[in-house]
Amino acid sequence: MKRLIGVFMAVCFSIALFAENGHNLWLRNKSNNPVNIVSKKSSATLAIAKEELQQGWLGEANSTVTLLVKQDKTIKGDGFKLTTNNIQANTDLGILNGVYELLRRQQTGEAIQDAVINPSYELRLLNHWDNLDGSIERGYAGLSIFWRKGDDAFKVTETDKQLWKEYARANASIGINGSVLNNVNASPDMLKKETLERVKAIAEILRPYGIKTYLSIKFSSPAMIGGLKTSDPLDPEVITWWKNKVKEIYSIIPDFGGFLVKANSEGQPGPQDFGRTHADGANMLADAFKPFGGIVMWRAFVYSPSTEDRAKQAYNEFMPLDGQFRDNVIIQVKNGPVDFQPREPFSPLFGAMKKTSVMPELQITQEYLGHSTHLVFLSTMWEEFLKSETYQEGSGSTVARCTDGSIFPQKHTAIAGVSNIGLDTNWCGHHFAQSNWYAFGRLAWNDQLTSKQIADEWIKLTFNQTSSDNSKQPLFSPDWIVNFLNPVEEIMLESREAAVNYMMPLGLHHIFAGDHHYGPGPWYAPKGLRSDWTPPYYHKADSDGLGFDRSPTGSNAVSQYHEPLSSQLADPKTCPEIYLLWFHHLSWDYKMQNGKTLWDEICYRYDTGVQQVRDYQKEWDKAEPYVDSQRFGEVQSKLREQCKNAQIWKDACLLYFQQFSKRPIPYDIERPVNVLDELIKKDMKRH
Ligand code: GCU
Repeated sequence: MKRLIGVFMAVCFSIALFAENGHNLWLRNKSNNPVNIVSKKSSATLAIAKEELQQGWLGEANSTVTLLVKQDKTIKGDGFKLTTNNIQANTDLGILNGVYELLRRQQTGEAIQDAVINPSYELRLLNHWDNLDGSIERGYAGLSIFWRKGDDAFKVTETDKQLWKEYARANASIGINGSVLNNVNASPDMLKKETLERVKAIAEILRPYGIKTYLSIKFSSPAMIGGLKTSDPLDPEVITWWKNKVKEIYSIIPDFGGFLVKANSEGQPGPQDFGRTHADGANMLADAFKPFGGIVMWRAFVYSPSTEDRAKQAYNEFMPLDGQFRDNVIIQVKNGPVDFQPREPFSPLFGAMKKTSVMPELQITQEYLGHSTHLVFLSTMWEEFLKSETYQEGSGSTVARCTDGSIFPQKHTAIAGVSNIGLDTNWCGHHFAQSNWYAFGRLAWNDQLTSKQIADEWIKLTFNQTSSDNSKQPLFSPDWIVNFLNPVEEIMLESREAAVNYMMPLGLHHIFAGDHHYGPGPWYAPKGLRSDWTPPYYHKADSDGLGFDRSPTGSNAVSQYHEPLSSQLADPKTCPEIYLLWFHHLSWDYKMQNGKTLWDEICYRYDTGVQQVRDYQKEWDKAEPYVDSQRFGEVQSKLREQCKNAQIWKDACLLYFQQFSKRPIPYDIERPVNVLDELIKKDMKRH
């Protein structure tokens, strides 16, 4: 019996040893190489820097590394100067950033050249859409790591602290330096004493990793929890209430970052409720933060049910306010003018607001890109966005350069990503969704990076199985590179285009089923629902054709872009085909550049998307020998689901649009396997 128990224990132990549940993210390196560290200063942050070096050093054994905090004008913010054995920075956080860079280069085999490495954006933030009850708006990876309901909601446990520490470390390792801890649809309770005490506890864990805490607030808090009669931003009592609240926050959390505000948007209260402007509201809060160095991130995600094209509304509301905001206000603008669709052109506000700090908001959580079921590497989408040419100050005025301070002297530069993490063991629900967290951090640090480089790094750090002792083996075997790294990288780099193909190609957008934003619902238009919350508003399919006319004959949204882009978009012949149906309503027989009709092209695109996911299945199965069994199996089963769903997308959209096009699906394409009426019935039952 004893022997049996012994054998059982040994088996359990070895399984545990090799179990790979993904919790370690891209931080799985361990090394036994000794390293000497010279550092005159000491601090909590430097202690982490030293520990990381000691645990992960892959350079020559017994080397000496010098960490030097010394002012240097060429180093900006928490950037650093790096050589093989030295890291110099203006701040302790700069040293920590340098250590992570050095270790990453050692682990991925990237050369370490002497260089000053500065961040593109000063503030690199995750936005958590976490609610106080622990649920997460548009979260697909379990409940919140910060909040929960129940008797122990405000109790800070050792498990909490451990998880927050791991979270902080992961963020720090990719340069993220701030977290907004709660949903933009904020509860006023967020500002209550007991909640702030928990923020303090979180801030204490995050601080040594250089991560500041921020909160989303409800604009009507003075009336809702302050007992005031109004929340009018120009009311003296309201002004005093916010001043006192901000002062109270700083007495609890001395390095607090600031507020994120969703106001007069999707039913949230705001200054317009009192006849005031966004600038009145934002400036009032900004003044309260001024003595403490905090900032206000004011969102431009505004639209209302009017006759005006939704895609034009944010620009219409915010452009007249350019120059009216305090210098500690940053306008936070979603990458596209509608809402985080699989593909949108960039929001015309980028580069257009020249006298205001403007920051991009990206969505890491895959609200519109398959939740945590679909493998979609978002880096390529963000790269496309950041490299988009606005022409605002001549050519070269990319969105990246318009927002990172290269072109306009913004007081603050920042970028935010709506987080995709939760209590799931692997943090993100899908192992590959971790790559999106990683990619956001890397692009926020360096907005010129290519997705190829990011994917390459991430795969090497996340899946490399070679041991990292000081053996003379190459870091990555040629076999691993050819049979794992290369094919997986190809999947990742193509995956967003595949999702666009099987969901909404050629500029189609927002044709999701209601509410959940997962499956298709081009038909979805319940009576009485705001039309701008229904897909027909966006696709405008009719017997004449398909697409939203935003040219000068339509809503003229193209006029919000700078020339020559404006004219280029206005003409279907020069409009990039990827945005064709975003800007134009075209006949089913419209001739595409490849000679095909619009209808045929749509059919081929949907079909291509399905075929692409099928190929991912094959490639992933081939990769089995190179991945631990748990992660292999979990990704394999997600790909199966993605494949089924891609097929549903194709069938639903083609069969639905065919009712208007009245043309056959080209005969060389695989036929639909779902029945339209059944898909519609199933979808509508949910509502
Ligand atoms: C989308 C999303 C909402 C979210 C909103 C926002 O509309 O579906 O859940 O609150 O964006 O960004 O404010």
